[in-house]
Amino acid sequence: MAQYLRSVVRPAERLLKPLQFPHKLLMGPGPSNCPPRVLAAQALPLLGHLHAEFCSVMDDVKAGARYAFQTANAVTLAVSGTGHAAMEAAICNIVEPGDVVLIAKNGHWGARAADMAARHGADVRTIVVPPGEVFTLANIAAAMAEHAPSLTFVCHGESSAGTMQPLEGVGELCRARDCLLLVDTVASLGGAPFFADALGIDVVYTGAQKVIGAPPGVSPISFSERAMARVAARATRVRSYYFDVVELANYWGCDAGPRRYHHTAPISSMYALREGLSMLAEETLEVCWERHLRCARLLWRGIEDLGLKLLVENEDARLPTVTAVVVPDGVAWKRVVEHCMSKHAVEISGGLGPTAGKVWRIGLMGYNATEENVRRVLKVLQEAITACKM
Ligand SMILES: Cc1ncc(COP(=O)(O)O)c(C=O)c1O
Repeated sequence: MAQYLRSVVRPAERLLKPLQFPHKLLMGPGPSNCPPRVLAAQALPLLGHLHAEFCSVMDDVKAGARYAFQTANAVTLAVSGTGHAAMEAAICNIVEPGDVVLIAKNGHWGARAADMAARHGADVRTIVVPPGEVFTLANIAAAMAEHAPSLTFVCHGESSAGTMQPLEGVGELCRARDCLLLVDTVASLGGAPFFADALGIDVVYTGAQKVIGAPPGVSPISFSERAMARVAARATRVRSYYFDVVELANYWGCDAGPRRYHHTAPISSMYALREGLSMLAEETLEVCWERHLRCARLLWRGIEDLGLKLLVENEDARLPTVTAVVVPDGVAWKRVVEHCMSKHAVEISGGLGPTAGKVWRIGLMGYNATEENVRRVLKVLQEAITACKM
């Protein structure tokens, strides 16, 4: 046995020193830099996942998420996982095999929701407009009349293309047809006006790492009473234990029962999310929305002054948090991205999915949405484009 008392695989040399890397300004579509207050909260000592103090942190997160979503929904919590986890939690609780699900697809995230819904057995129907465009209410009404879905998915902030989907009237359409409305606000929440209850939205989720300014890993989500009634009436069990909203609602203290262990919440990430939501509440949504729009307008003007084109022509359809800039002919988009990072430690991103290779994406989110950062990114981008002409 003695030979087993010594490890055989030696630790890699790189592991034998503390983690270090340079500071980077994250001006892509997320994550964005965290405010120091959020990072400090994250470094607080651990609590147990059912300690009274931690339950109080969870209660703060619920209150903060209700404020950010503008909802009174009892079942409002944060799933342990990134935005994808929240998307999966929404879909797996609502969708049963064979359900018709309508996905409004104008970029990468509609495509991703369609993929997920299909994996959960949905009969997926899509309504499509090109990236850079948004749906009219008439588009959505016609598709709903044609497909009679039991769930409709819309992405509020399509970060692959920089569009912001108007949501007025979609909730009413859904209610009239006994259809639930699911909205992705990962890239938009806090950066543009959004009112879950007033818009008649049944399930909505977001991510921590964009406007909220916390690290990725915990994602607010909210279910309306109509959505919870749909869950209660399911003919089949929710296929995911981890994302079962009835189990999660108990752990989060959203039901009448005593809180039970469901999983060990990512404690430190929850502190950070709590702090990000607290900062949003202190700033107020109205001021935060205005700050994002002011910075975005400055960026849009600056981009046009550089002789560049914005993918989204209609200013009303532009997402203030993520701007898509068309890559001009004769410029190597990837070299520009690399130049910004290697020479200035500034991140801008290329496109995603259908916009890959066609646009750069510049994010203005949360702590990073400042006029100073807009000026910096414009200067860096201009220099990089000049340096990277083919
Ligand atoms: C609109 C939208 N939805 C969903 C996601 C997925 O979030 P995550 O990468 O945190 O899983 C993103 C990520 O950028 C997004 O922009």
